[in-house]
Amino acid sequence: PAPGWSIDADVVVVGSGVAGLTAALRCEAAGLTTVVVTKARLDDGSTRWAQGGIAAALGEGDTPEQHRDDTLVAGAGLCDEEAVRLLVTEGPDAVRRLIATGAHFDESSEGGLELTREGGHHRRRIAHAGGDATGAEISRALVEAVRAAGTRTIENALVLDLLTDAEGRTAGVTLHVMGEGQHDGVGAVHAPAVVLATGGMGQVFSATTNPSVSTGDGVALALRAGAEVSDLEFVQFHPTVLFLGPDAEGQQPLVSEAVRGEGAHLVDADGVRFMTGQHELAELAPRDIVAKGIMRRMRERDAEHMYLDARHFGAEMWEHRFPTILAACRAHGIDPVTEPVPVAPAAHYASGGVRTDSRGRTTVPGLYACGEVACTGVHGANRLASNSLLEGLVYAERIVADIAASRTGDTLHARVPQPLPQAGRPRHPLLPPEARFTIQRIMTRGAGVLRSADSLDRAADGLRRLHADARDALDENGKTAEPGVDTWEATNLLCVARVLVAAARQREETRGCHWREDRPERDDTAWRRHIVVRLNPDRT
Ligand code: SIN
Repeated sequence: PAPGWSIDADVVVVGSGVAGLTAALRCEAAGLTTVVVTKARLDDGSTRWAQGGIAAALGEGDTPEQHRDDTLVAGAGLCDEEAVRLLVTEGPDAVRRLIATGAHFDESSEGGLELTREGGHHRRRIAHAGGDATGAEISRALVEAVRAAGTRTIENALVLDLLTDAEGRTAGVTLHVMGEGQHDGVGAVHAPAVVLATGGMGQVFSATTNPSVSTGDGVALALRAGAEVSDLEFVQFHPTVLFLGPDAEGQQPLVSEAVRGEGAHLVDADGVRFMTGQHELAELAPRDIVAKGIMRRMRERDAEHMYLDARHFGAEMWEHRFPTILAACRAHGIDPVTEPVPVAPAAHYASGGVRTDSRGRTTVPGLYACGEVACTGVHGANRLASNSLLEGLVYAERIVADIAASRTGDTLHARVPQPLPQAGRPRHPLLPPEARFTIQRIMTRGAGVLRSADSLDRAADGLRRLHADARDALDENGKTAEPGVDTWEATNLLCVARVLVAAARQREETRGCHWREDRPERDDTAWRRHIVVRLNPDRT
């Protein structure tokens, strides 16, 4: 439908995690009129769930160069070295600015930041808050700061499509808003700069650490707008997610890598450690290596999960250092103080996303992306633990610097949005809400932690059928499912799942978190390159 209302701004930020709210705060500080739109409440995204912390070379003896080296090793040959350099050199000051904004991090008895380790880090460089509630504290501080700054926010606002002017430059977004008074129904924010900070797409799989809102909305919007998307095949599976049964669906409780950073061991049902001897860092190897180690042992033992043993921490350390994880385990009848915790890998993070340059610019003028929705090049084939909150901070700031620099005098040039081509008839067949679960099962079976040409072919077929059914319904009676959050989410999930599977089929090697059983070796001759996808906006 055509927008029923519109508002104007210099910048519209879509999403309200660490990347989105940092961008909004910096925009306000730069004197740019800013509107933040977010699909649920301001603190409902993934940031709030981050446990382990935020990585930066802040400790004595640590340097950005060492942080860079660990990031490049984890990224398995596909990181953009300049993007990583910017991340690690600008990171420490970006964390200090976050602290100045009001986020409180845990301090050691000597008074400095208390730093921990996680997989792939050779040093203690992860700052944390509330023990294992880092994201919750960052979210609290940023939400408070945005409210204090008086930034205009619209909650319950699902972003639909990018608006462009006659030259194809960004002119705003359309939104479907529910229950927000004067801005209800389908409307638009007109702005010459749009910052996508919509987070990830973990809900494309049945079991994930991501909240239910992580449905790939930003990547789907960018694809529909004709922007380039890169590296979607690199889905990171977190090695240690609390195992709640083979059929568990939806968001699953995370057991932070920081638990291993503080000395927990991965063991099988006989109590035997299996990561020693596989990698010099054993349980603290990069995340893809630990996830593979767990999967291999599960296969050898015909087991549904492994165990994380941290009984030696004792009750006091569990309560003080990992209160969130302790409470989640106990809520599911497991006491980590007295028994090993059952764990298995689950979908956690999209290392790829909307392709950007070092200033967060996508290939559509005026459209920016930062945080999990983006592919800045810092993660390569496998993100280093706790680099994601840092990336959100650093690249949000880089984006705002670029927008501010594009002003003439005090203003950004407003652009006249072209009418949307689908005004009379929907351009995309909307899927019924229940299609979400079909997509999740198809993806878990065919494109999960272990993939092969056969499994991916089956996944591609299943997704193609879903798309064809929706397309047929549209052609037969010009109608699809009723527009709403559930139908758009299912539609977005299908859009990103199809591109993810196509990229995973194309990459005929094993690298980072892309594990092909039928192509078990890394192939640097053919595949030290990125798979970049751009859809024709008229045919999506
Ligand atoms: C964790 O706490 O293990 C998650 C950290 C991350 O995903 O970077």
